[in-house]
Amino acid sequence: MYIQELHTAIGKKVNLQGWVANKREGKGIVFAILRDGTGYCQCVVTEETAGLAGLEAAQSLSLETSVILEGMVVEDTRQVGGCELHVTQVTIVGKSENYPIAKKEHGIEFLMDQRHLWLRSTRQWAIMRIRNVIIYSIHKYFQENGFILMDSPIFTGNAVEGTSTLFETDFYGEPAYLSQSGQLYGEAMAMSMGRIYTFGPTFRAEKSKTRRHLSEFWMIEPEMAFCDIFQNMDVIEGMMHAIIGEVLAKCKNELQTIGRDTAVLESSLKTYPRITYDEAVRIIKGEQDVNGVNSIVSLEQELATVKNRLAEIDAEIADRNAKIESGALKKGEINFNQSKIDALKQERNDLEEDERNIPQWIASAKNFEYGNDFGGSDETVITRLFDSPIMVYDWPHEVKAFYLKRNPEDSRFARGVDVLAPEGYGEIVGGGERETDEKALVEKINEHKLPMEAFEWYLDLRRYGSVPHSGFGLGLERMVTWVCKLKHVRESIPFPRMYGRLKP
Ligand code: 4AD
Ligand code: MG
Repeated sequence: MYIQELHTAIGKKVNLQGWVANKREGKGIVFAILRDGTGYCQCVVTEETAGLAGLEAAQSLSLETSVILEGMVVEDTRQVGGCELHVTQVTIVGKSENYPIAKKEHGIEFLMDQRHLWLRSTRQWAIMRIRNVIIYSIHKYFQENGFILMDSPIFTGNAVEGTSTLFETDFYGEPAYLSQSGQLYGEAMAMSMGRIYTFGPTFRAEKSKTRRHLSEFWMIEPEMAFCDIFQNMDVIEGMMHAIIGEVLAKCKNELQTIGRDTAVLESSLKTYPRITYDEAVRIIKGEQDVNGVNSIVSLEQELATVKNRLAEIDAEIADRNAKIESGALKKGEINFNQSKIDALKQERNDLEEDERNIPQWIASAKNFEYGNDFGGSDETVITRLFDSPIMVYDWPHEVKAFYLKRNPEDSRFARGVDVLAPEGYGEIVGGGERETDEKALVEKINEHKLPMEAFEWYLDLRRYGSVPHSGFGLGLERMVTWVCKLKHVRESIPFPRMYGRLKP
């Protein structure tokens, strides 16, 4: 019996198998919270139901001990899942002494070192379950819409997304690179299948520590024959709606567990604004408002709000500390005030980060130079003005990949499209319409100083029955990070690989 099915067994005797996530004791009674991967259940052990041996075994349970608990399922609407287990027998499967992750706060580096154990904690468990539903919803969307899954190679002979982020490896004495993207192979397969998608690991040697970059991440790359940039945007939006809809429907508990306010996810089920690069630049620089809101003015207002709130927090912390120190409080009241102070300090940390960041965002928005690619702060500035993802298209061709088609009406622009997630998250999808003209592609390959012989096969796709085609790449971890509103992409993947982190 799994905990998630317990409500079907009220009044019945069952066996639960799992790990002790928490334990409280009273006189002659033990309350153990059992987790089995599907959920959490309060298990009550007394001498009356479990015998003295059972009670003593329960008293000996420590955090993360694995157990089999036999007992009666009793309805209790106050409990998560609506029931609890009145235990009749306790069987210890594996002991767990001095479990390293205690309930007290740990630093992030410590937790990352303990990632193999940290994955068991409630928040990480919930995030990984949401990741699973996102993966499922992506396959479901593409499979139900006539796309063929293709696996692109990991060992590759050429760069796709610029030569500066290549991981080089030795392929029988020949240099090879870990794939940055399956796109070029996807284009070949789309000419066989019409519509394909890849779903696989990709690698970027990003020698900097940011909250958005991993060295190994999973990318979903659809590629569609007879598809222009606008039809491409339709597919992106359909996929995004499918993912978000599935998460909202299936992950209510998990979203609640991680404290995700779902309002923005719900508003992301509508049509997304499609904004040209030119327009986006005007918005960032504060030359064009969004629904009456100006980027620079709203950042300045926000900074003032942050400063006010910080002053309030300091006053409240001082006030509560004074109460605790007065000696007039009972133990319970002291604990209450202390936990309020801890929460306020956490809020203060976040606000202090905003206090440092916002002036930098304002400066970089004001000084943004037309023609540049967007940096992380530019994406933050523009996406804070929207309550859904936005699609920015028609980028200056110089800052985008070699394979993008030029806008036939204005050759300064390449037909790339980036999807930027709201709430300051920024790019989660990059894609566009592909260049079909062999001569134009050859020029771009030379301009980017890429080795022509490695792209001969790719040029063949233009020589034999070339058609307009488009595609995009969704970064799975970026999507999970935004959906879960995580501070850093490292918590969105079971075992992150990034600059400075290869273990465990
Ligand atoms: O924008 P990118 O570099 O585009 C491509 O690779 C295209 N070949 C995709 C295509 O058109 N088929 O990467 C696509 C997405 C980004 O929008 C981002 O979500 C994610 O991949 N991504 C990363 N995620 C985590 N860590 C990194 N270092 C990432 N680099 C890109
Ligand atoms: Mg990109």
